[in-house]
Amino acid sequence: MIILVTGGAGFIGGNFVHYMLKKYDNYRIICLDALTYAGSLETLADVMDNPLFTFIKGDIADRDLVYSLFEREHPDIVVNFAAESHVDRSIEDPGIFLRTNIMGTGVLLDACRKYGIRRFHQVSTDEVYGDLPLDRPDLFFTEETPLHASSPYSSSKAAADLLVLAYYRTYKLPVTISRCSNNYGAYQFPEKLIPLMIANALNDKPLPVYGKGENVRDWLYVEDHCTAVDLIIHKGREGEVYNIGGHNERTNLEVVRTILRELGKPESLIQFVKDRPGHDLRYAIDPAKIQRELGWKPETPFDEGIRKTIKWYLDNRSWWENIISGEYMHYYERMYGNRGMSTA
Ligand code: NAD
Ligand code: DAU
Repeated sequence: MIILVTGGAGFIGGNFVHYMLKKYDNYRIICLDALTYAGSLETLADVMDNPLFTFIKGDIADRDLVYSLFEREHPDIVVNFAAESHVDRSIEDPGIFLRTNIMGTGVLLDACRKYGIRRFHQVSTDEVYGDLPLDRPDLFFTEETPLHASSPYSSSKAAADLLVLAYYRTYKLPVTISRCSNNYGAYQFPEKLIPLMIANALNDKPLPVYGKGENVRDWLYVEDHCTAVDLIIHKGREGEVYNIGGHNERTNLEVVRTILRELGKPESLIQFVKDRPGHDLRYAIDPAKIQRELGWKPETPFDEGIRKTIKWYLDNRSWWENIISGEYMHYYERMYGNRGMSTA
């Protein structure tokens, strides 16, 4: 079996590459990644010498490159993690989100049609459903919830989902889609809530909480996402969407306070800053379909997962310190200086 993993030098894709190489000793994994600011070969350092692993630097929207890769390698399965993934960056500059997330997915789908494939799996997000109100804890996203994306990021992901489903209906391409809630764990880029707060707390810098910190996210440990995608690509029904989530809702303030408590840092580090424009209020996944059809269930409770994650950031300081010392500094000043926070 040959699996092409796009975006494998990023957070979830990197975890998926590690997971698959550990689980299967007869699968070849090929990673195609453009190594944008969010991708790092250090994430894949442990597997670079594995004879079952090949890394190719390239853009999923580069048709010639993608076609020649398919012609040479003939992947059986494609798992598309490659994306621009950060909502705040999409608000600042939407264009690249449309190119990578929509056009890039389109090129991969065309390659699958042209060269044949056993399965194309699109890694999507719960954000395509928009948000839920804070005062209706009884409501959850199901696979039937209408698409109602809020940000340039989530609307580009929703467009890609529609394209994937159109290739199923029109060309009978064997596709599946998963829509997962917020992930956390090792190798997450420190622009996202949890690693950003861990890094700032460790450096005794202010922790910028948007608005009042009341927004709710549904957190899933990244390895539980990997087991779900593994199940879907092997046993999921073609043309189907599967929601992935573990009923782990927390307000942002709760998450930040947990991190401070675990690190023994004071709550006075919390700084409330200007809210994200169009900020989604609450995400909450109903995972009944994947549980019922594929027997998936998450293994890692939040308290355990956050401890493991904090330990990983403590044990792997060079991985994230390299990141926050480079171009990231300019991003940080732009993003948080604009929110009325001192970034010095
Ligand atoms: P990430 O930003 O950490 O990684 C994205 C990877 O894609 C990087 O390695 C980057 O170099 C690569 N990439 C970007 N543009 C590319 C291009 N044009 N061609 C090839 N490679 C390119 O993202 P992540 O958090 O790991 O998310 C992975 C996928 O999962 C995304 O599709 C995202 O929408 C989805 N998702 C993420 C979460 C989450 O909580 N992080 C939750 C649900 C779904
Ligand atoms: O739900 C899945 C999605 O989760 C994925 O599709 C996205 O790729 C991923 O980035 C994530 O999106 P969010 O916008 O929910 O994640 P983020 O880590 O950016 O923010 C989480 C919450 O924390 C959100 O309510 C905004 C808030 N926040 C974030 C940052 C970076 C803060 O309060 N302060 C911050 O500095």
